[in-house]
Formats: sequence, C-alpha cells, structure tokens
Amino acid sequence: MKLNIGVIKGDGIGPEIVNEAMKVLDKVAAVYGHECNYTQLLMGGASIDVYGVPLTDETIELARKSDAVLMGSIGGDAKTSPWYKLEPSKRPEAGLLKIRKSLNLFANLRPAVLYEELKGACPLKEEITDGGFDMMIMRELTGGLYFGQRSTEEVDGLMTATDTLTYNEDEIRRIARRGFDIAMKRRKKVTSVDKANVLDSSRLWIKWTDEGAKDYPEVTLEHMLVDNCAMQLVKDPRQFDVILTENMFGDILSDEASMVTGSIGMLASASLNETKFGLYEPSGGSAPDIAGKGIANPIATILSAAMMFRFSFDLDEEADAIERAVSEVLKAGYRTIDIMSEGKIQIGTCEMGDRICEYISHRVSEN
Ligand code: IPM
Ligand code: MG
Repeated sequence: MKLNIGVIKGDGIGPEIVNEAMKVLDKVAAVYGHECNYTQLLMGGASIDVYGVPLTDETIELARKSDAVLMGSIGGDAKTSPWYKLEPSKRPEAGLLKIRKSLNLFANLRPAVLYEELKGACPLKEEITDGGFDMMIMRELTGGLYFGQRSTEEVDGLMTATDTLTYNEDEIRRIARRGFDIAMKRRKKVTSVDKANVLDSSRLWIKWTDEGAKDYPEVTLEHMLVDNCAMQLVKDPRQFDVILTENMFGDILSDEASMVTGSIGMLASASLNETKFGLYEPSGGSAPDIAGKGIANPIATILSAAMMFRFSFDLDEEADAIERAVSEVLKAGYRTIDIMSEGKIQIGTCEMGDRICEYISHRVSEN
C-alpha cells in the first residue's frame, strides 16, 4: 500500500522523536511491503521562523492532501522564546488549533495505559493499580471554550475578559457516536464527563449522549461530574474504559491520566475527522529544556504511528507489530531517562528507535 504521510516535526524535541517514528514507519513498510512517501510540513515555531505565522494555508492544504499526518510537538519556552512576544493568534499553539479546526479533527483519542513493565513509575499505591489499567480519553477537539467567542475589553471602567463555551447538538452527537464506537471495540463502558450541576452546555451534553447511547444497547453509559472524575482518576483508575468529554475537560483530564501512568513520554494520541484522515502526535509537549540532547523518549510518537496504521490505514497487523515491539523492548529492560529505574539499561532517543525497529524485524524472522 502507498502511504502518503505529512510530517510536522515541529519544535523542541519534535524533530528528534519524529525521526525515530519515521525510522519505525520505514521498517514496518519494508517488512510488510508498503511504501511511505513523506511530505515535510512546517507548523508552530518552525513555521513562524520561516513564514512569520504558525501555520500557512498552503501547509493546511498539503496536510489535507496527505492520508495522515504525523506530528512531533510544537511550542517553546514561553518565558524566553521570541515566539511568545507575538500576539496570541500568531504564537505556535495557534497553529495547532488552526489545523484541528481547518481539518475538522473533532475526535481526539488519548489512550492512558499502565504498562506492566513500567508500573514502578506510577505514582499511585500498588493496591490501587494492581492488574494495571487501560483507558481511552475521548476528547472533543473543535468546540467548547477553545473555539468560542472571546474578547478582552473595558466594561464599566474595568478590563474584562470573556471566553464562551458553546456546543450544539450535532457536535455532541458526533463525538458521542465516536466514543460509543470505540467502546464497542473495548470493554463497552463509556463514562461521559460534564459539569451539569452548573453548565448549560453540560446539560445539553447529557441529553445527546443519552440519546446516542440508544443506538448502542451493549454499551454501558454513565455520567460523572468533572471534579469527581479528577478525583476518581487517582482513587480508582481501573474503573474507566472510555472517558468521553468536551474539549477543556479533556485537556485537563488527559494530562492527569497520563501522569497516573507515570510517564507522559509513553502516551500516543490521534485526532480524527469523519474520514480516515488523522493527525497523530504524542500527548507530551515540546520539552525545550531537553531538546537536542538525544535523551527524549520517542515511544509516544512511535505509538502514535501505530495508531496511524490502525485508524487511518486499517492496517491492524502493522499496528500490533509496533505495539508489541515497544513492549518487548521494555521487557528487555531498555529505558530512556524519563522511565529509567534501577537495574535497567538507559539508552538515548536514537537507540530506542533502533531497538524497536530490531524487534519488528525479529518478530517477522521468527514467523
Ligand atoms: C494539548 C495541548 C494543547 C491544547 C495546547 C498546546 C494548545 O495542551 O494538545 O493537550 O490545549 O489542546
Ligand atoms: Mg493539553
């Protein structure tokens, strides 16, 4: 199969971790008989440096023409980087929001899995996480506070800032459907998270998720208040299968869920629209403090490439091969510094990519 992949290396550790993911993509392509064609795209700070804006319309069109986009990370140190002297709509993050909206990437999937091999990195007590946990945060990505009307103006002599949280029933229906579809392939439980004791948007959210659930009789749907969910994530993460929530709640809860796994460097993500197109990126940020040192963990990006095979190309076997190779490498004791523990073998970004590639070939020669 010909795979046309747009690549946004981005800023900070982005280029290093994406290079490793491309190595893995090439390895999988060689082993399973595919051809990867890459189109390099600039976004975030890297685009500001060249074009003065974080994302050009030409880049959006090139991304749209790709089958899928693999992304590293964008942004720099807000205190020291010149990018943050620009007005908010010209900063690196604005590029990310623009690509999400322009390509209608409304469904953001962020798996949070506690790997058996890394359970030592989990900050929770062992009795809470015994047996591991495996949840999928399903975050609505193109609505809510992120894209509502906003303003900063003087009202009655006082500077006043306003952000609005808006959802319509269609937006809720389509993300709920995605959540139920994903749950059907998992343990068939959806926890829909809201703040319905305060917000109108949450009350509408409940109405349409309840409505959507009627088409999925096998799925159990429960509703949970967002503050309670934040608590339950550390109290009993094993209770969750799919967490379905609006944009801002999902932003916050997915960071919390990732930290509960012990390492944000392990967590992949996919942002999908109604077609097979997807934008795949690690959940972590650009970590400018360790950029260029060759120590960043590339696994989240590599696992994002696995999600790309699964969701955009329907190549489950290839996705499984990547995920298995990651597990094998961890089992063999290899660790980047962020997940290092006593008695393990510390390696750098590049070697981690090499090891994972080796396991992908091993597996095939064993068969
Ligand atoms: C994320 C990030 C972004 C978001 C930022 C960089 C705008 O935190 O992908 O979770 O808030 O969505
Ligand atoms: Mg975030």
